[in-house]
Amino acid sequence: MNHFLSIADHSTDELRHVLDVSFRLRSERESGRGNDPILAHKTLAMIFEKPSLRTRVSFQQAMIELGGHAIMLRDDEVGLGRREAPQDMARVLAGMVHGIMARVFEHQKLTDLAAVSPIPVINALSDLSHPCQALADAMTLIDEFGRDLSGKTMAYIGDGSNNMALSLAELSGKLGMNFIIAAPPGYELEQAAADRIMSHSPNMNLEMTHEPADAVRYADALYTDTWVSMGQESEADRRKRLFQPYQINNDLLATAPDHAIVLHCLPAYRGLEITDDVIDGPASRVFPQAHNRLHAQKGLLAVLMGGQ
Ligand code: CP
Ligand code: NVA
Repeated sequence: MNHFLSIADHSTDELRHVLDVSFRLRSERESGRGNDPILAHKTLAMIFEKPSLRTRVSFQQAMIELGGHAIMLRDDEVGLGRREAPQDMARVLAGMVHGIMARVFEHQKLTDLAAVSPIPVINALSDLSHPCQALADAMTLIDEFGRDLSGKTMAYIGDGSNNMALSLAELSGKLGMNFIIAAPPGYELEQAAADRIMSHSPNMNLEMTHEPADAVRYADALYTDTWVSMGQESEADRRKRLFQPYQINNDLLATAPDHAIVLHCLPAYRGLEITDDVIDGPASRVFPQAHNRLHAQKGLLAVLMGGQ
């Protein structure tokens, strides 16, 4: 594994290996003895074109707990693709640090960085995908249902055309899960993306519907994300009207199996895509899910930069 730009780029075995390392590092941390300094003398450059809480803190904390360092580079300082071409930035950083993670609008900037970078490039979210969140979500699902997730069903309610939906669909294919999207017309997972996922994971059950209740009927996990992703703020009013029937609330949850859990990558817009009583209720695993970002990012960094 050289870079981590999408779930689809990696085999099930590679993803399982990252998850196994993540669980091992989490156990070490929880035992109170801490982790070995796997990344001593290693530095991660972190470029952010968009805001972040979980991604920024989890990567920085992961580097600290593994004995390394992280340097935060705000986009107004470095101007990825504006002040400097991604290719040039990658070549410069490769002589100074040991890994690059970037949160960008255009996914192409990540592929441009990775095309020339001799050091690992990590996708910390792009308009296309959010694979680091999906890794942490796999941990949360495994915490709940065990290591073998095959045959489990995730129902994704909301914007099926966004970065989270794509990464979760790819993850579901890799782990043998069923993935059902309930989205308003025009906001489904792109057909080309669905075809690509099915060609990599031909046995996968990937469904799309416009009816949330149909999606959650047999679901083990319900998942939602904001209706207005970063960069889509000018569409907020229209989206909020259109997506209203796709809210995860207690009425929808009541139509799911009793054991179903609820996930959200956060930040959540309470009262829009998810209600307070659901996010704070007994089915919610949203905060352990957020905490798993730290452990998943540690596992990923340990594999990419620490030879694990
Ligand atoms: N889920 C997630 O990526 O959160 P941040 O945008 O706060 O990093
Ligand atoms: N789809 C959301 C995910 C936030 C973590 C966004 O891109 O804003």
